[in-house]
Amino acid sequence: MKVLIFPDAKDAIAAAARLVLDQVRLKPDAVLGLATGGTMEAVYDKVADGVRETAVSFAGVSSFNLDEYLGLPPAHPASYHTYMRQRLFSRVGIDLAKTHLPKGDCEDAEAECRRYEAAIAASGGIDLQLLGIGRNGHIGFNEPTSSLSSRTRVKTLTADTREANAQFFDRLEDVPHYALTMGIGTILDARHCVLLAIGASKAEPVAKAIEGPLAATCPASALQLHRHATMLLDREAAASLQLVDYYQRVHPDGAPAQIEPR
Ligand code: PGA
Repeated sequence: MKVLIFPDAKDAIAAAARLVLDQVRLKPDAVLGLATGGTMEAVYDKVADGVRETAVSFAGVSSFNLDEYLGLPPAHPASYHTYMRQRLFSRVGIDLAKTHLPKGDCEDAEAECRRYEAAIAASGGIDLQLLGIGRNGHIGFNEPTSSLSSRTRVKTLTADTREANAQFFDRLEDVPHYALTMGIGTILDARHCVLLAIGASKAEPVAKAIEGPLAATCPASALQLHRHATMLLDREAAASLQLVDYYQRVHPDGAPAQIEPR
């Protein structure tokens, strides 16, 4: 696992955007795994800047989002379909037919989850999966005690997750109780996992994910099993790590290491 600690949130955000842009530059038909949430908003701004200012083209890119609220139609203002259209898809020239999110208003949720898994497999698999982390250590909507080998399925959201996401709805009561989410096993199949965490509210889950025991109580700790996981942190999100001096010595201020061990 590569742990990169940046002096400042904006540096960590820029690094996440750079990894996405570099992936597309390297492989113009890359399959991206995308995330939503407050942390990703600034990343997508930077990716859109990069597409405008450089020769990187998203015309051949496909994407699969981590999750969607069960019951929300794509046009709902708080759906992740809407978030992605507004924050990224409409700004980077991606072919909308190549963008995928679970359908929140599907009739048969189990069939939709199976369809989603099959579509990911048919694409050849995800090259780079962007991840945020919840205050409770979730990745996607894999809440604590999710199976570490789970696949796309319906999960019940915790009270903490519903509260954290209430900012995107008019009222807490409007936040759905269920979501369709890639499983932890689905996420671990990506060829590169990139987790971005910003701010003091993420310090505890980040420490558990990186240095804690592998445990279903912290779903992000499953990344310890991945052979190519990159953790991008600002100083506040890194504040509870015990080996911070070590990470800083390997990658001073998030800089590439001289020798790149994984
Ligand atoms: P946030 O969400 O970026 O809004 O903090 C992250 C997550 O819950 O995965």
